Amino acid sequence: MTDFQNSLRLVTAQTAQKTFCLFSSRRAQMKRAAMLIASLLFLVVLGNAAFAQVKVGIVLPTKDEPRWIQDQTRFLDALKTAGISAEVLFSQGDSAKERANVESLVSKGIKVLIICPHDGTAAAAAADVANKAGVKVISYDRLIRGTASVDYYVTFDSVQVGMAWGDYLVSKASGKGNNLYLYAGAASDNNAFLFFEGAWKVLQPKIADGTFIVRNSDKAVALSKKATLTRDEMASIIGQVTTNWNFADAKSKAEANLTAAKKEMKGTVYIAAPNDGTARAIADAFAADKDVTKYYITGQDAEIASIQYIIDGKQSMTVLKDVRILVKDAIAAAVDFLNGKVPPKTTTYNNGKVDVPAKPTMITTVTKENVKAAIIDSGYWPASNFKGL
Ligand code: BGC
Repeated sequence: MTDFQNSLRLVTAQTAQKTFCLFSSRRAQMKRAAMLIASLLFLVVLGNAAFAQVKVGIVLPTKDEPRWIQDQTRFLDALKTAGISAEVLFSQGDSAKERANVESLVSKGIKVLIICPHDGTAAAAAADVANKAGVKVISYDRLIRGTASVDYYVTFDSVQVGMAWGDYLVSKASGKGNNLYLYAGAASDNNAFLFFEGAWKVLQPKIADGTFIVRNSDKAVALSKKATLTRDEMASIIGQVTTNWNFADAKSKAEANLTAAKKEMKGTVYIAAPNDGTARAIADAFAADKDVTKYYITGQDAEIASIQYIIDGKQSMTVLKDVRILVKDAIAAAVDFLNGKVPPKTTTYNNGKVDVPAKPTMITTVTKENVKAAIIDSGYWPASNFKGL
């Protein structure tokens, strides 16, 4: 083989190798590019799916009370109108289930969590899970306590709710020595303290001056000279008169109180009942006692069954907390967060760890006198739900 032939073979071999390398690197490049495009497409589809599926997660405490079913219904209506994708889950009075609900929503890619805690302190762990995932946390109606992971609080003015009970009972009492029975919500619910604080603000001076005598809490009697109670002092009274927000507990507590009360502690009675479900249970127990000749009883939530009780004269008042407004405020706050904005604030609520910004909503007292205007004419419940209006 000549030198020329040799170098020709060498050049040919090198060229072939280079062409092969070039070709194979082109193939690899194309393959890489194709893979890149495919994964980008996958991410876009995935991202869109997550965004289109659940932007807002809503967690409510229980289906066992009409109050929270109402919130769900009104949320779903309002979300549909607002064109926001959201999912509502219930915790059924179980903090572990509540946390699992939050984890599931976070894994679905929510950007905002609206949560009404079953137990305000236990829910801190669930709020922390959401916060760590970069999700904005809105505490809904009840405040989550003991964590900085709460970005906003959508609420009614709960102190005003308790004051409305006090104002009503005071307006019906005359003279001295009127029998007063106090009942409270669940101690695990921060609202139970706010309602009690409001009621105490109005009732305490009237207990101190002898207008009322508390008949079912020796702790309240012992503290009756104190205008403002500490959280621990309130807890000691709530511990004696709690209903745990449970109708059966409310009924048996009222029955036990009536069994323990002497005849002179009955007659005309004034009852601060913490919400409509428990008010109906307590009212039924007092109505069944032959030594109770007349009772005045409070409530809250404007539940359909309690509006009927008011029409029938079996419950004296309720507090309308217009859930339509609360839902609207919660969705507006969620939209603000989704758009990187901060929702409006008129005050703050300390949750034991931080001051949580809020813009509380006003409440309305409903009695037989204004029930038609406040409930029917306002469109809150249709007249067809009631008899004897
Ligand atoms: C709510 C009330 C409700 C109660 C029992 C409170 O935190 O503010 O509207 O009746 O819980 O569920």
